Amino acid sequence: MSDFDLVVRGGTVVTAADMFRADVGIRGGRIAAVGEALDGAETLDAGGMLVMPGGVDTHCHIEQLQPGGLADEETFETGSVSCLAGGTTTVITFSTQFKGHGIRDTLAEYHRRARKAMVDYSFHQIITDASDDVIFNQIPEVVASGVRSLKVFLTYDPLHLDDRSYLRVLAAARRTGAFVTVHCENYEAIGWRSAALLAAGNTGPKYHAWSRPRIIEREATHRAIALAELVDQPIQVFHVSCAEVAEEIARAQARGLKVWGETCTQYFVLTQQHMDRPGFEGAKFMCSPSPRGEEDHARLWDVIRRGTLDIVSSDHSGWCYGGPRGKRVHGDNVPFTQIPNGVPGLAARLPVMFSEGVSKGRIDPTLFVRLTATNPAKLFGLYPQKGTIAPGTDADLVIMDPKKRVTITNAHMQQGIDYTPYEGLDVTGWPVATVKGGRVVMRDGKVQAEPGTGRFLPRGPYDMIKPLGVLADGFDAAAQLV
Ligand code: URP
Ligand code: ZN
Ligand code: ZN
Repeated sequence: MSDFDLVVRGGTVVTAADMFRADVGIRGGRIAAVGEALDGAETLDAGGMLVMPGGVDTHCHIEQLQPGGLADEETFETGSVSCLAGGTTTVITFSTQFKGHGIRDTLAEYHRRARKAMVDYSFHQIITDASDDVIFNQIPEVVASGVRSLKVFLTYDPLHLDDRSYLRVLAAARRTGAFVTVHCENYEAIGWRSAALLAAGNTGPKYHAWSRPRIIEREATHRAIALAELVDQPIQVFHVSCAEVAEEIARAQARGLKVWGETCTQYFVLTQQHMDRPGFEGAKFMCSPSPRGEEDHARLWDVIRRGTLDIVSSDHSGWCYGGPRGKRVHGDNVPFTQIPNGVPGLAARLPVMFSEGVSKGRIDPTLFVRLTATNPAKLFGLYPQKGTIAPGTDADLVIMDPKKRVTITNAHMQQGIDYTPYEGLDVTGWPVATVKGGRVVMRDGKVQAEPGTGRFLPRGPYDMIKPLGVLADGFDAAAQLV
């Protein structure tokens, strides 16, 4: 009789802090031991490989409902396969609120759709309409059900919130012990600049970047932080595109505020020049905030090494390039303002970040683990169940071959989306096996998992996101139901 169901043997275990040669013994879906010469009923040979916590992607759009009843073209089933192919075992996706509607019923619909998932999952609740019922009744209910984070947009029609509504969401989060994530771009400035671009006849995909230069993201980031400070509510700034924006976060952190920053794979390899490809091709690279210039990549790595930005997500978006529903939902001859934003990247996140980061000597493997697994798990209340390798934690692992060279094609992504913005990118380092809940679910690119094996992860209260208790004039405005 073996001590373990599965032993991952002979690899180099990498955690947020350490790297050491060890076997990982798994029993009942959990890690039972990390040690030498372990014996299991099944063995996964990891000789020469890095054994890391399964990726935790806390920002991805999967099967998100769109106004009019359609959903993203990436489903929980296809998205899960892509995650497992790329070494990610846990995701936080989104439940959207449509203006004029509540959040209770749509969240139930997301739970129903996510039953097909093969990765563990939770949701961020998007708030687009801060009605009294949503603020005072529905947010507390949804948070009590384990959906402990809200997302607000400071731009996009029809999603954006004005400052007063944003303040009301921050206050609701403070009262209920939820966390708030923020899309920081200035709605009015983008609208004004876009109108000017269109009036000047500048309509192609490349003008997406021109419509929202760095200052537009930077201003909104400053404002989002200032208002969060006013309410005394911790926030995470989503998808920071460049070092200038990260500076706003660094200043807040230096003043002791609970402000965190996330960035995404695309901001390390894409540039706004990608959107200048002929015809409609540029739409493939269109996301918000916009990718910047080549020189921004190196500066973003500096910010990562300093720790200002501590999470790298995919911000995976489920828009196909071909067909009538995705990027071409309004046609392929439309101005940039009518092309849906977002790029796919569930499976690309770990190999691209490993290659650009570890293989090119910019970061060490432990920082890679912190960025892609440990920090997201900690910030969103999933740690230590997720994001580390230690006895008692979920047996979710990615086995990375640090030497394997791959030229990325969309076939590697195994996703429901028909293109990858990373097509043709050469990477060194590739996930060769994924273990989820103690089972080997991906081996050499072949995913074997059944729909429904992913579990919802309810998130209770946790210390990291508690308010500081520092209030202007000592007055807690959030305690008043206004
Ligand atoms: O362009 C992006 N990022 N699309 C996805 C939605 C969002 O803003 O996160
Ligand atoms: Zn966003
Ligand atoms: Zn997003």
